[in-house]
Amino acid sequence: MSNDYQFDVLIIGSGAAGLMSAIQLSNTLSIAVIAKDKILEGSSYYAQGGISAVLDPDDNFESHVRDTINTGFHLGNEKSIRFMVEHAPNAISDLEKAGVIFSNTGNKYDLTTEGGHSSKRVAHVADKTGQSIQVNLLAQAKKKKNIRLFEEYVAVDLVVKEDRCFGSYVLNKNSKEILTFSSKKTILATGGASKSYLYTSNPDTSTGDGIAMAYRAGCEITNMEFTQFHPTCLFHPHAKSFLISETLRGEGAKLLLPDGQEFMHKYDDRLELAPRDIVARAIDNEMKVNGFDCVYLDFSFKEAEWIKSRFPTITQRCIQLGIDISKEALPVVPAAHYTCGGVNTNINAQSNIPNLFAVGEVAHTGVHGANRMASNSLLECIVFAKSCAQHINESMSDKQLPTIPKWDDSRVAPSKEKVVIAHLWHEIRLIMWNFVGIVRSNNRLKSAQLKIQQINKEVNEYYQIYTVTEDLIELRNLAQTSKIIVESALSRKESRGLHFNQDYPNKLDKTQNTVMIKQ
Ligand code: FAD
Ligand code: SIN
Repeated sequence: MSNDYQFDVLIIGSGAAGLMSAIQLSNTLSIAVIAKDKILEGSSYYAQGGISAVLDPDDNFESHVRDTINTGFHLGNEKSIRFMVEHAPNAISDLEKAGVIFSNTGNKYDLTTEGGHSSKRVAHVADKTGQSIQVNLLAQAKKKKNIRLFEEYVAVDLVVKEDRCFGSYVLNKNSKEILTFSSKKTILATGGASKSYLYTSNPDTSTGDGIAMAYRAGCEITNMEFTQFHPTCLFHPHAKSFLISETLRGEGAKLLLPDGQEFMHKYDDRLELAPRDIVARAIDNEMKVNGFDCVYLDFSFKEAEWIKSRFPTITQRCIQLGIDISKEALPVVPAAHYTCGGVNTNINAQSNIPNLFAVGEVAHTGVHGANRMASNSLLECIVFAKSCAQHINESMSDKQLPTIPKWDDSRVAPSKEKVVIAHLWHEIRLIMWNFVGIVRSNNRLKSAQLKIQQINKEVNEYYQIYTVTEDLIELRNLAQTSKIIVESALSRKESRGLHFNQDYPNKLDKTQNTVMIKQ
């Protein structure tokens, strides 16, 4: 029995949610932030479009609340939405205090728009908003002596004793040891699960680890059927679904068929700025009906110099791939982008397990409902990280931590069959893409359920006999998260927002959240 490390607070994840939580915690607390990859790696770093907040005198909180509720197809929790919207201007000043300089025109923010927003309320740092946020938050975290950063440490499972959380078992990727990180409070900030799909805008870190760990520990996992597909990722063999920000459409970019015809008027009066579920389904439909590999996004009518300064990251990446965005339309396809569901939490980010919190994409705070409105995600990270930290600052006890049993690896051996992991990983992502994608049906979902159940069985057997590695941890989490997504999708007997089932094409008059708990 030993606790390798003891902290007041353990934060699992170093994206915007994890780093902001760390910075907002009191200087008197000892804090560990662990990241399974490099500290800056995660979705937050790649965020392009921006962060939403009412900053224009002509805009107002009611309008931001209403747009969020409407885009979420009335499944969102109004209390949480109002909380987030009313704290948004403060979130922007918290980021500015950390050093972020939002694009501006002198004394005014250069606000832009995206699907679902009825006003210009997206603050951005050119098209590298996430990079600026992450670099500045990390610099702040490094200044604080009470925060210790652990890079390349992978959380394996939460430690739960007498129904309370006391930290996590963590794999040190370099020494290959599994250590006990014990803590009075644990914050999951592990991001989403979009890597369960074959094509995704997300980096490799988004394997649903926090959701799967929380599920195994007994947390309520809510609304996992709502995977958001971003309508426009670059269609190119070497681009790995590079995101083409919705803010291009916010600035007037047009979606075209290969013959140059516009098509969004057939689907929604808001055209290219309809909410994401509608645009992604429209593109999917055009591709399937006409047999196209992709559609096109045209911005070439804008002035080249302006494009370069407003969208430097996208311009540069496209040039590397041989595409001049100021001269030609970009080939685009939808890809899995955001996990609207997650670990159920309240306004203080508390889960149903005492001492366990969840912040950011891993959490279900209720703000996104059946479809997240663009740029509300970074906002959710910043607002709920602060409320979580404030709650912990006020409720920290000086009780001793219990001793946690050491990780037992006496019955496992290193695997000589790593191909099994690679194969199952690919199989899950293919099944999810083909059977649990943008448009679903009962038959395809049931077929996916059988296949994913079988994969879970194989992964669990493998896990019982082989030494834990990062790949095995992620495969196990991906398999469990995919199972939750499929079962949540099967249990929703309607189509709403991001969940479209051909066998139940309509919305029910009365609906509720889908909640999964381990039996
Ligand atoms: P992440 O930033 O994904 O960080 C997760 C962290 O958890 C990482 O540090 C990772 O290493 C760590 N981790 C995961 N599992 C483990 C484990 N087992 N052990 C240890 N560490 C672990 N949203 C907006 O609002 N505006 C935008 O403009 C925008 N653009 C986007 C563009 C792209 C390309 C993508 C992918 C997303 C975008 N989003 C945007 C969504 C938004 O960026 C994310 O929802 C948000 O950044 C998630 O932050 P997070 O801190 O919850 O997770
Ligand atoms: C984008 O820039 O299109 C992404 C915005 C988001 O996901 O909120």
